[in-house]
Amino acid sequence: MDGKIRIREFTPSDADSLLEMHEQSAEYFEDLGINREFILNISQRGDFRFLVAERDGEVVGFIGVLYYSNVGRGEIGPVCVDKSLRGRGFGSQLLEKAVTFLRGEGVSRVIARVKEGNTGGLKFFEGNGFQQEGFFKRYTLKGEDVVQFVKFI
Ligand SMILES: CC(C)(COP(=O)(O)OP(=O)(O)OC[C@H]1O[C@@H](n2cnc3c(N)ncnc32)[C@H](O)[C@@H]1OP(=O)(O)O)[C@@H](O)C(=O)NCCC(=O)NCCS
Repeated sequence: MDGKIRIREFTPSDADSLLEMHEQSAEYFEDLGINREFILNISQRGDFRFLVAERDGEVVGFIGVLYYSNVGRGEIGPVCVDKSLRGRGFGSQLLEKAVTFLRGEGVSRVIARVKEGNTGGLKFFEGNGFQQEGFFKRYTLKGEDVVQFVKFI
């Protein structure tokens, strides 16, 4: 129990933990009707990668990246840390690993979209060197506005 996290690639046995964390914070994410099968399907896509954070053998966070090496662009999201373990830098470590991965895949432009009402999410990307570049009105099915961030990596 050293309190540190280890970040590794997703494996299918992580699906239930991801689902649980996703449900804990559902209001911050796009309403995609996520279930176990959805997670397993996207984890197998060639243009998507999940990284998970593990602490003392438990999955405590995850980050997804969607990327297109041929055009050098990528997108972060979703990113999530277990509710009880936020504010310890775990999210930033996940983000840093994801950015390193994307860089290695030839990506130079990374975006992230956050609902306008998600103050913690907005601060998180700003605090990690992302800049606001767009404001999309009624972007979600529920009519929520969304802020788009960019970082050149
Ligand atoms: C966003 C999220 C992943 C951040 O994870 P975290 O491990 O708590 O983040 P960190 O501890 O690395 O925080 C880094 C910085 O982000 C900012 N930040 C993060 N959460 C914040 C909050 N709730 N309120 C204000 N600032 C916040 C701070 O500037 C913080 O730096 P500091 O610790 O020096 O103050 C986590 O809050 C989460 O899972 N939220 C729900 C899902 C979500 O909103 N995802 C983003 C949209 S996809």
